[in-house]
Amino acid sequence: MPRKSYGIIQGIMPRSRISRREWLRRTVSSLGGASGALLLPGLTGVPPAESGVGASAASAPQTGANALSRERLLADFGWRFHLGHANDPAKDFGFGQGRVFDKVGRLFTPSGARFDDSGWQPVDLPHDWAVDLPFVDAAELVDFGCKPLGRNYPETSIGWYRRVFDIPASDNGRRISIEFDGVFRNATVALNGHLLGTNFSGYAPVRYDITDLVAYGGVNVLVVRVDATEREGWFYEGAGIYRHVWLTKTASVHIAHDGIFVTTELQGSNAIVTVQTEVINDSDAVQSCHVEWFLEGKTTSSSQMSLDPWTRQTVTQRLTLANAQPWSPDVPHLYNLLTAVVPPLGSPVDQVTTRFGVRSIRFDPDNGLILNCSRLKLKGTCNHQDHAGLGAALPDAIQHYRVSRLKAMGSNAYRTAHNPPTPELLDACDRLGMLVLDETRLFSGNDEGLSQLERMIRRDRNHPCVFAWSIANEEWSDQGNDRGRRIAGTLRRRAHDLDPSRPVTAAMDSAYENPNGISLAVDVQGFNYQRENIDAFHQKFPAKPTMGTETASAFATRGVYAADQAKGYVSAYDVNKPSYGATAEEWWTYYAARPFLAGGFVWTGFDYRGEPSPYKWPCISSHFGILDTCGFEKDSFYYYRAWWDAAPVIHLFPHWNWAGREGELIDVWCFTNLERVELFVNGASAGIKDVPRNSHVSWKVPYAPGFIEARGLRPTAAPLVMRRETTGPPATIVLRCDRDVERDRLAADGEDAAVIRVEITDANGRVVPTASNVVAFKVSDTGHILGVGNGDPSSHEPDHASERRAFNGLCMAIVQARTQPAGDGVRPPIVIEASSPGLTSAVLTLEIGRTGGRRALL
Ligand code: GAL
Repeated sequence: MPRKSYGIIQGIMPRSRISRREWLRRTVSSLGGASGALLLPGLTGVPPAESGVGASAASAPQTGANALSRERLLADFGWRFHLGHANDPAKDFGFGQGRVFDKVGRLFTPSGARFDDSGWQPVDLPHDWAVDLPFVDAAELVDFGCKPLGRNYPETSIGWYRRVFDIPASDNGRRISIEFDGVFRNATVALNGHLLGTNFSGYAPVRYDITDLVAYGGVNVLVVRVDATEREGWFYEGAGIYRHVWLTKTASVHIAHDGIFVTTELQGSNAIVTVQTEVINDSDAVQSCHVEWFLEGKTTSSSQMSLDPWTRQTVTQRLTLANAQPWSPDVPHLYNLLTAVVPPLGSPVDQVTTRFGVRSIRFDPDNGLILNCSRLKLKGTCNHQDHAGLGAALPDAIQHYRVSRLKAMGSNAYRTAHNPPTPELLDACDRLGMLVLDETRLFSGNDEGLSQLERMIRRDRNHPCVFAWSIANEEWSDQGNDRGRRIAGTLRRRAHDLDPSRPVTAAMDSAYENPNGISLAVDVQGFNYQRENIDAFHQKFPAKPTMGTETASAFATRGVYAADQAKGYVSAYDVNKPSYGATAEEWWTYYAARPFLAGGFVWTGFDYRGEPSPYKWPCISSHFGILDTCGFEKDSFYYYRAWWDAAPVIHLFPHWNWAGREGELIDVWCFTNLERVELFVNGASAGIKDVPRNSHVSWKVPYAPGFIEARGLRPTAAPLVMRRETTGPPATIVLRCDRDVERDRLAADGEDAAVIRVEITDANGRVVPTASNVVAFKVSDTGHILGVGNGDPSSHEPDHASERRAFNGLCMAIVQARTQPAGDGVRPPIVIEASSPGLTSAVLTLEIGRTGGRRALL
């Protein structure tokens, strides 16, 4: 697989030739608005990755003493991968022979510069090797997505990654570090045979300073041994380096990793922006410097500091932002702050761009969540991180797609159940306006637990979307006792030290009334289910704010209207739930009627792999989602849209293809937020019904081919109509893209991705709701298929394939553009052809736009 290559951006003046005065002049004039990239001239030509604390990438070649500024390089490309073996050192590159850690510099056989990895599989990140493993019917795997990971599957539970790269001699003197956003899990990392560390967590990011170990002017070998034998959850978690990796180079005087913390306070029409900046001097000399801040393109302030050798200092500055536009889910306005470190003479040695929002958060025990002085009801979903076709390895564009799907339902909040998310999910939530309850995985006050919490909070605390930290989910051994209260107290103290601006909560399914338990130690009580006990809790603890950290757990299979245990399908009427759960209508009517409850999070927004309740094999995915694993909506999507969104909604179901059931009574449901609905069956009225608030209406009508039609009656406008027609047989394939391909072209960077929705329609263009045709995809050389899916919870078809069977009329392909060199004129589009025997094929053309925005490690 070719390594990524990006052209050098032209016209950039080498830093050494810019005076400080010139730098300031050009910096200020280069700073854009909220959407502009903040770049110091002479440093870079491409915008930073959008990140709570984003560091700009540098693209000008840098040499000698001038090679001091920050570079953040995406290290996702050009890896090699090989499975190891948990029990057999001979198949695990010698690991387990007993001499692995005896001398430094010899860790891992594949660390050798001359190690032959030609037999290893070329891979780009993000990568999840579990996706390619077969589905296995074994009781111990059911909850985890039926992939063979664990003690009984030693040959598929260990993965090795190897990446070779050059570091120029001129980098000697800089600080160099490597960051892993997420590896599942227990990843031991070596550079040039030296141990960097082992990250226990499959979710918390980890960063290693590699300055001492780099071969300057030579070849460097990075090796990662990933052990996915043990899990951290009770659901599919993937396996491998499934998030981004970054290589960062800075000057010896630089801003600390995640070392900027921005908080805001609205004062009339202005905002006070308080910035804490942690600066490090990793050198043997005393260093003086200025820290300078640029808010929305204007120099706002500067502060001088003197740092002793090998020390760090934090400076706090208050800046004023005039006429501040607050961030909210409705208007997610973002600002940019550029922080630079400038020595007394000469040009800046470091800069970091921080994207932030201005908003205030407060919980009130009687009124729930107060955002920017107004009450906001959380209309949330909990979600795991996997997606159809991809497993846990999602390109950033798919985070955007997923959050957009939830927004389209009227949702305003997302709980990262039950682990810290990838940072790009938070970027999408900042941008699109989705509040986030950010959750750590390990409920423990030990070093590991505190470290996981700290890594999450330092990384995520500038995201305006994050409104609270969650420290636990249903910790049954401890939630009701003294030990639980002490642990929660320790975690809450650390959370408040790192971020006094957000409350701490815990998701509990029992023992919250116990005066010794976790409840006592958290700022906001989180309930998982428990509708029968919430009122009593509120009466007993009237000063404690409350929210539903988990609600519903309703089951449904998209497009299915009768349970079929053999196939593992549940009907999509809003009637199926586990003993502890609730239907959509039950939980939302309860929460909507109680102002003291801040709102709640449905289990779940999307179906996910694993936990296929109420069934087991052949089911491999859950049925809890409002959307299936592809992001295709089930009927309950429209229940939520009707009651969560202000726009008029009418949704009628089921479909009207019931050949063989002529004359039988069929349950017909309508989700709408209009006051009255009239149903017509083949043109004859079946009656008008009043729609109770937060509820639905239904009829039983005999089936006859033709159509049913719901007319939502509005006092001052024409009725809103939805019709279901009996379709003809499958005739044609229709392809739709999740983006407006003209306005939002695919980047030719090997990262961007588009979701292609495939519909099987009849000769009249109506989606055939029972169609199950196999669709084959052909993609031109400029792109490739990343994965396919159809939302069928019992499908055992491969995710990485060039064909997929439609499930109830739909399937999906995720397409990515291959890297194309910058600046070489016309880029041929990606042409996707979808065909199926007996159907008219479809072709979709995706134009290629800009090249990638991020510089990659070569
Ligand atoms: C909850 C749990 C979730 C999920 C859900 C299924 O108790 O917190 O992770 O397992 O049940 O209903």
